[in-house]
Amino acid sequence: MKKAFIISGLVFFAAITGCSDVKRHPGRVYMPDMGNSVAYETYSSTDRLDTLGVKYTRMPVPGTIKRGELFPFPLAKDAGTDTTNYVLSKQVQNPLKSLTAGELKEAERLYLVNCGICHGTALDGNGPLYNGGSGPFGVAPRNLVSDPVVTNMPDGQMFYSITYGKGQMGPYGPQLDTKQRWMIVSYINSKQSGGSGAAKDSTAAPAKDSATAKK
Ligand code: HEC
Repeated sequence: MKKAFIISGLVFFAAITGCSDVKRHPGRVYMPDMGNSVAYETYSSTDRLDTLGVKYTRMPVPGTIKRGELFPFPLAKDAGTDTTNYVLSKQVQNPLKSLTAGELKEAERLYLVNCGICHGTALDGNGPLYNGGSGPFGVAPRNLVSDPVVTNMPDGQMFYSITYGKGQMGPYGPQLDTKQRWMIVSYINSKQSGGSGAAKDSTAAPAKDSATAKK
């Protein structure tokens, strides 16, 4: 009985001490900078790294695009009053030929978040910021569904204006990625009268009606 008591006491002691895994002296750390990297704050200076000869900029490698992103718009913003690229942009094709129901819903959300305040939830150019001329924004935003300037505008040019801004409208290139901007263009098309949401490319063949086809 006494023996069993001593043995169980020893087992208990071994279990207690065996489970304790606290290492107060972990010993030498080989190359500590690899184990515990130096913390860098977002937007902080990387000068210290430069002095160490480490080239680290936190920017994507020039000429690369992130996975799943569309190719960037090929035209730069016109300088000053030049309109060369604005005119050329008519020829840029919308890479999204049509949107799925889910994408259309997302495009509507993006429109309402970014554009609805001026162009209105009905896309009629009368959002709360303009409010028929009595709002704080003094310049009338375009009616996106019935103004012929917009309804006749090829997708590429609409994309140009959304990306770089137009007159009193600011640029949306920095806020929305390439796909999101093309999605909004397609969304606007889908809301125009008779619009199916299909891409409006300047080179797209005009719809033939049976009368002209017979000639
Ligand atoms: C701060 C108000 C404001 C916001 C927000 C705004 N717009 Fe505009 N938008 C305007 C005004 C004002 C014009 C007329 C600019 C001009 O022709 O001088 C305009 C013009 C346009 C045009 C015609 C461009 C052209 O080339 O003539 C399109 C298309 C357009 N907006 C789409 C959008 C889309 C899409 C968004 C959201 C991503 C948006 N706008 C956000 C005020 C705004």
